[in-house]
Amino acid sequence: MSVPDERKPLTLPRLSDMQRRGEKISMLTAYDATFAAMADAAGVDCLLVGDSLGMVCQGLPSTVGVVLETMRYHTESVSRGLDRVQGKAWLIADLPFGSYQESREQALTSATVLMQAGAHMVKLEGGGWTTDTVRFLVERGIPVCAHLGLTPQTVHALGGYRVQGKGSEAAGLLRRDALALQDAGAAMLVLEMVPAALAADLTGELDRCITIGIGAGRGTDGQVLVLHDMLGINLGRMPKFVRNFMADAPGIAPALASYVRAVKDGSFPDDQLHAW
Ligand code: KIV
Repeated sequence: MSVPDERKPLTLPRLSDMQRRGEKISMLTAYDATFAAMADAAGVDCLLVGDSLGMVCQGLPSTVGVVLETMRYHTESVSRGLDRVQGKAWLIADLPFGSYQESREQALTSATVLMQAGAHMVKLEGGGWTTDTVRFLVERGIPVCAHLGLTPQTVHALGGYRVQGKGSEAAGLLRRDALALQDAGAAMLVLEMVPAALAADLTGELDRCITIGIGAGRGTDGQVLVLHDMLGINLGRMPKFVRNFMADAPGIAPALASYVRAVKDGSFPDDQLHAW
């Protein structure tokens, strides 16, 4: 006899409630139906169809080459995987490079494609210049997750996968951007590779926007990792902030469950994993 799943579907109000109560939010990337169902069964709160699929699934050198149609295909696959198991996770999909930079209208058209593929929220990268677009989407009923710090779509402009927000000027700019994005209605903010103290301070200041860290220390409202990284099957160089949850697990399902536990009890990330 199967055990009834008592979890309720994750919604924005439920996620905000977790933020208020201080319950850490777990997020992983997912690109296909099977892994989406497994991550959901392990209790992962949010799944991100990240444009990291360009590197993980397509073998591209960066996320720059990922196009909207590919994001639609994978979002639909993940969404179907969740439907098959009556999944509870909140589903976020990345707007890829070139699908939202031109105008607010272009962003709306692209976001509509991903929402109709099953996403509950779209994510876009960038600071102050994106606030108009974020407001435009939110006013039209599309929940938005912003992304600051290391923004992989602009890796060439940043000069590599480097820590961002170091020094008072860069930290001040990041802080202004984060507050502007919250004011524009972004309900979630990914902070990638920024100093732990800055991410923790921002998390304390933002009350209407949930922060999710990746290489940003333990002070954010939640954590995200690329699925293949935390399973230790990365093709390239493993980022320093990643923990391989397969190292001590007898299989994939227990490794996913161990990630959720470690995020919830605050044992991931630890201080050695983010020395900046
Ligand atoms: O594309 C992705 O996987 C991401 C996460 C690393 C946050 O944006």
